[in-house]
This record gives sequence, structure tokens and C-alpha cells, in this order.
Amino acid sequence: MRSRESFLLKTSLTLKTSLTLILVTEALSAYGQQFKPTGHGVEASADGTVLQISALREDVLRVRMWKAGKESEDASWAVLPKARKSSVHVVAEPRGFHTQQLRVTIGTDLTLTVADLNGRVLQKDAEPVTWQGDRFRVRKDRTSEDSFFGLGDKPGPLDRSGQAFAMWNTDTFGWQETTDPIYKSIPFFIDFKNGRALGVLVDNTWRSFFDFGRENPNQISFGAPNGPIDYYLLYGPEPKQVVSAYAWLTGPTPLPPLWSLGFQQSRYSYYPASQLMEVAKRLRDDKIPSDALYLDIDFQNKNRPFTVDDEHYPHFSEMVKQLAQDHFHLVVITDLHIAHLPNADYAPYDSGTAGDQFVKNPDGSTYVGEVWPGPSVFPDFTQATTRAWWGTLYKDFTSMGVAGFWNDMNEPAVFGVPSKTMPDNIQHRIHEPGFAERTATHAEIHNVYGMENSRGTYEGLLALQPNVRPFVLTRASYAGGQRYAATWTGDNSSTWNHLRMTVPQIVNLGLSGFSMSGADVGGFAGSPSPDLLTKWIEVAAFQPIDRDHAAKGTRPHEVWADGPVHEAIRKRYIEERYRLMPYLYTAAEETSRDGLPIMQPLFLEFPHANANGRAMDLDTGGGEFLFGQHILVAPNPSPEEGAAYEVHLPPGTWYDYWSGERYERNQQMKTLDLEQRDKLTQEKPLMVTPTLEALPVYVRGGSIIPMAPLTQSVDETPQGPLTVRIYLASDAKEPCAGEVYTDDGKSFDYRKGQYARVHFACAQQADGSLQISVLPQEGKYTPWWKSYRFEVLGWTPKEKKAEVSGRSTSLETDGATAKVTSEAKRNGLQIILR
Ligand code: NOJ
Repeated sequence: MRSRESFLLKTSLTLKTSLTLILVTEALSAYGQQFKPTGHGVEASADGTVLQISALREDVLRVRMWKAGKESEDASWAVLPKARKSSVHVVAEPRGFHTQQLRVTIGTDLTLTVADLNGRVLQKDAEPVTWQGDRFRVRKDRTSEDSFFGLGDKPGPLDRSGQAFAMWNTDTFGWQETTDPIYKSIPFFIDFKNGRALGVLVDNTWRSFFDFGRENPNQISFGAPNGPIDYYLLYGPEPKQVVSAYAWLTGPTPLPPLWSLGFQQSRYSYYPASQLMEVAKRLRDDKIPSDALYLDIDFQNKNRPFTVDDEHYPHFSEMVKQLAQDHFHLVVITDLHIAHLPNADYAPYDSGTAGDQFVKNPDGSTYVGEVWPGPSVFPDFTQATTRAWWGTLYKDFTSMGVAGFWNDMNEPAVFGVPSKTMPDNIQHRIHEPGFAERTATHAEIHNVYGMENSRGTYEGLLALQPNVRPFVLTRASYAGGQRYAATWTGDNSSTWNHLRMTVPQIVNLGLSGFSMSGADVGGFAGSPSPDLLTKWIEVAAFQPIDRDHAAKGTRPHEVWADGPVHEAIRKRYIEERYRLMPYLYTAAEETSRDGLPIMQPLFLEFPHANANGRAMDLDTGGGEFLFGQHILVAPNPSPEEGAAYEVHLPPGTWYDYWSGERYERNQQMKTLDLEQRDKLTQEKPLMVTPTLEALPVYVRGGSIIPMAPLTQSVDETPQGPLTVRIYLASDAKEPCAGEVYTDDGKSFDYRKGQYARVHFACAQQADGSLQISVLPQEGKYTPWWKSYRFEVLGWTPKEKKAEVSGRSTSLETDGATAKVTSEAKRNGLQIILR
């Protein structure tokens, strides 16, 4: 467009917008309301309540509400400052505004309706917000078609419908399926209906509550006893877009050190040091691939954080070195409570007291509560200065080569009191960019306390070793805590039901931003039967954090604990995890960019797979999951039972990961609209008869999976080619693609280009040949592989010939798999199989 024309158009648009604004303002003052378009949203008020809605992006809205004259502080522990300050211009309308994706309409009573631009209502207030003093409650319409996912590690079914929850980080040893609250408060959920997703983050740190139709089946509601009404709506329509928007809002899980994706062995406690060394030796002797070992509280002197029991761990620093030589990364526990030991030469207490780092009673004295070390004091993690001090406590351990740190008990747990935590009136000081400097009660800070503890650790480690990716494992956290730490589901139990629950819990954690999550393998409380432990090790091999951990007094949990038959099965699964390490690391790297979790529900990749627009996971009872985007794992949904069970595969071509057997599922669904699908008779699910040694795993047709030769730890360089497994979709028009990402696995040099990313693609040609393209490598890093081994499933050679960039080479066949090996070239390759 020529500039004069564009000027005129812009001027007329501006005039039109201003006119609309005047009309809008006038129209609404007729209701006795104030209604002010702000350019990126509106501010409306009625009956002494102010409602402010702003569009941070075309697909992300922020909603705030306060009583006139009592505007809540505009600050957040969860949302990144950059996201919070973002805004887009919106088009004002008489009763609201619209962005390029969403239309917001405000009722005269300040009720809110959010729709897409086709008029499809995405969320509607069921009634005006109610207040009782500072307590508030927001109610939204609910239909029977809505499903709700997220809310972190809360137990219970994957879909939160019909349930109600409280947010209050709680130490719940031996929690069960109906226990609520447990360790984390992640006030984020995804409303999924008719194949469309809307995310809701309620950024209120107080003891908030969520009701997904339990009290009133026609409503969902959320509220809190205090604090701001401050929530964000994140529209898809694809659920993946919501998950990525949430990562934009609160930050993604950072790229973890590669070793943390290896097998991890822990116990409460390996004691004394010789026991830990025996475990290390046995892992290597039995060739059980593994990368991390843990020391729980007994390695410390009288359970005092940041000390070592010199009597039972006499040569600690040599021990750490020895383990490192054997390619083990040592993770040690460093709980947040500091033993209350005046005049006892206990450095964390002394330096903390000197710097005034501990939380206080209302009368100004230091709060003392009982935990593992006995009377303890608690760092004031909402002060940046306290976090910086806390970070320095790691200096000795990092200089010895301790690789990772475990922040446990940080709800915070306090013994001997019914509340299991510190009193609500304990005083925290807020000293944090973006926040007003003030004191806040524990009631406000409780839910972010664990997150700020893990933040202190993460940032402290970065300060000590700026070019080493920290590994922190935290038990408690809040929305956004994924920026600082991996997590686990706390003190689960050694029961079949707890094995089953690992899937919905880790999947919901992934949807809530925590991609690096796991559950204690084998169960923490109690002793697993040999079969239970074996099945658990099988499933956990396909979960992001694979850590075997057990409580004191329970029977041994290690892989070899039940004799050679069980050991052989368990080892095979851990080995498979290591073969898939290039695929797993590629998925972890993707998480670090767009927030897509490593372990996913099916509806994330296949939102339209269910004939009636519901999440396909509801058909599977939430028992199946995706490991990365291409591999589907289908454990027995009733793992204690021997009867055959149903496996539901999304529409498309699928392959049995172990045997290569191919399945075509509901192909026609991919092209039908929702109404047509209603009439479709879906194919029956596969029936699988469970056995001890088998875990059904499937690969999606059209995917390319990178795999490595087996190693005993990720430190070891794989010997041999990168295997590139190509699983063709039966429909030649379907995309066929995959990628591999690698780097040094430990530093931040990838940010300076020291990484390698290689994209693979393939295309089936009309003459029956198959073309495989290896695109030029991105990044400057030299990967470990020098050659590729392409293995193609789902394609039959006619001539048994292959050409690599014009040169003929041999093509082998092995059953239904065609195999070709070629040198790896940085600037790419073209391979033709005939
Ligand atoms: C509670 C943790 O959840 C558990 O994993 C740990 O072993 C014990 N604390 C002892 O530190």
C-alpha cells in the first residue's frame, strides 16, 4: 500500500476507534457504571468494585478485580515480568473489546463472557463475583462437556471434574488418592471441551480453592480467603498452544543436565558411606545403566543441613571424586530448616543470624520450629538477600564436585504441631524487585515458600558455577517453580494403585509447567512385592525423572533385590531408556523452548481423536501417556489384575515399539468433522493380556526416532552410529519427520551455538522408492555420532538398492525393517531407498 493511502486509512481507523470509545463510555455510564477502554482492554466499575481486563497477547488475557480504593499490589511470584508487562491493542466494543482471537463482553454487573471470534463461548461467569470481607469467589459456567486438567501433583483422576481442591503445600507422608492438599500449589488448569482448550492461572498465593462442579454441577469456581483476584486466560484452541502460552507466562522448564535424565538410585538412607559405594559398585558390576546416586538426611551430622557426619562418611570429598570417576553424579539433600544452634560453631546458623536471615514471630523474635535436626530456624526466602546468602551455603559441596541438590520438607514441614507447618502469623519480609518492600504473614507466603527456597538454591548454584546447569529437586512449589527445580510426588506408597497414579500425577504436573517430574520408583512408604517393583521400573523408564527411592525400614528396592529373573527384566527397561536417550534429550530441549512436557496426555497431541470432542484420555481412564510426542506407553490401568485390558490408539498408523507390528486405527476420523465423527463406529481398542515382562509401547506412524548404542551412563560416549528409526505412516501424504538435539549435556555453551540439531524427513515417492533427507546441521557442536543407521519400518523395497547422496550403497533387510548405514555429514544428506 502506498504511504498516503495507508496514512488516510490509519487516520480514519483512529477516528473510528475514538468514536467507538466515546460511544462506549457514554453507553455504559447510562448503567451507572464507569467503563474505560484502556487501549489494551477495559477498566469497568460498578457497585464499588473495579474490574480490569487487559490483553497481554491476542490469545492471553489478564483479569484483575478489587474493591474501589483497595487496588491489590500488581506483583507476582509466578508470572514473568516481561509477560506481565506485555500488551496488545484491542478493538473497543460497546460492552467490551476484542483481540484478533478473543471477544470479551462485560455485563452491567461486571460478569465476564469470553468467546472466540465465531461467537463460541469459551468461558462465562455464572454470577457476579462474591465477597465476604477479603474472601472472594469467582464462579463460571460448567457444562458436562468440560474436562479439567492440571493443578500440579494433586492425586485423583486425570480429569478434575466433579472434584474440589485446596491449595496449601502440605507434608503428607503416605498420602492416598483422596488426600488433598499435598505438597504443591499450582493454581493452573486447562478447560478442554469439544477439542478446544482454555487455560486459567489463578495467581493468588493464599490458601485458594478450586471447585470443578462438586458443589454445583453447573458451575466451576475458585477463590481465596484473601489476596488479589488476578487470573489469566490462555486460549488455544489447540491444547498445545495453551501449554506453550503458560510457558511464555511463567517460564519453561530449563534444559536439564543430561545426567538427570539417566537412572537415579536413592534410599533413605544409604548409611554409612560404604553402603553407598556398594550400591555404586553393584550397579556397574551388573551393568545397570545409571547416572545419579542420592544421600538422604543421615549423611549429615545429626541431620543438620550443610554438614557431613564425618564418622560414617569419613572421606566425603574423596568419595565424591571416586563416584565421579565411575560416572556417578551425587545428589545430596539440603533441607531448608537450619538447626537452632547458637554458639555451637554451626556456620549456617551463625551466618544466618548475623545477616538476620530467618523468619520471625509477630513480636520480632526468631521463629523456632521442630524438624529433623530438632529446634530449627527458617530462612526468609522472599528476600532476595536471604536467597543470595542461602546460595553461598552450597560452596563447599559444589567445590567437592557434588552434582545436584535436593530441597525437601520445604512446604515448610514442621513437626509436632497439628498444622504441620509454621503458624499463619509468622512474619516474612518481601524484598524483591517488582514488589513493594513490606512484611507479609505466612498465610500469604506459605505456598510460594518452597518455590523461593528452590530458587535460592538454583540461583545460588548458578552464582557459584555460572557455566554448569544446576540440578535441584524440590518437593514443594508454586506456579512458575519449574524455572528452578525438578520435582517428585513426595511420599507415595508401595501399592499397585500408587503405581497407577504416577501417570495422572506426572501428566498433570507436565500440563502445569513441571516437565521434569517423577514419582518414587517402587513407592516410598512400605515394601513393594517383587512384581510391583518390576512393573514400576518398567513404567518409570518412560517417565521424565526415573528415581528409585525408599523409606527407612523398608526392604531393599534396588534393581537386583529380587534375584536374577526380576533383575534381567528391570535392567532391559532401563537399558531401553538409555537407547532412547537422544530422543528423550531432544524432548527435554523442546520443553525448554516451548514448554511442551516430556510426558503428555494423549489429548495434547491428538485433541480431535475422540469422536465426541472429549479428551481421548478419558477413554483410557488416564492410564496411557505419550513419552515425547511420538511414543505412546500403555501400562495396565488396573496393574494388579491379570485380565486383558484395552489399549486405545489415536487415529493413524501405529507400530508396536518392541516387535514392529503395525496397526491402522480409525484413519477416516482424521478427515471428518466433529458431527460426522459422532456417527462413526470407532474401531475396537486393542486388547492386551498383561505379563510381568511386557509393557506395551507404540510409535506413531510418520515419526522418526533417534536412538543411541547402549552406554552405562550418559558420560560414556556411545560407540557406533546414531540409529534413526523411521516409522512410515500408511498414508504417504502424512508428514514424516523427526529430529535429534545434542550438546555437551552440562554447560550453557549451547546458548552460544555449541549444540547440534539435525532434522530428518522422509517422503514416499510414486515409484515406490523412499527418500530420506537429513537437513544441514544447526549449531556448531560436533555430535558423538560419525554415522547414521537408518532403520525403516512400514516400507518394502522393490529393488533392494540404496543411494546416499548419489552413491550406491547396500540395503539390508531384517524382517520388515530396511536398514542402511551412511556417514554423517554436517551439510546434510539425501538418501534414496528403492
Ligand atoms: C521426606 C521426603 O519426602 C523423603 O523422600 C525423604 O526420604 C525423607 N523426607 C527423609 O529426608
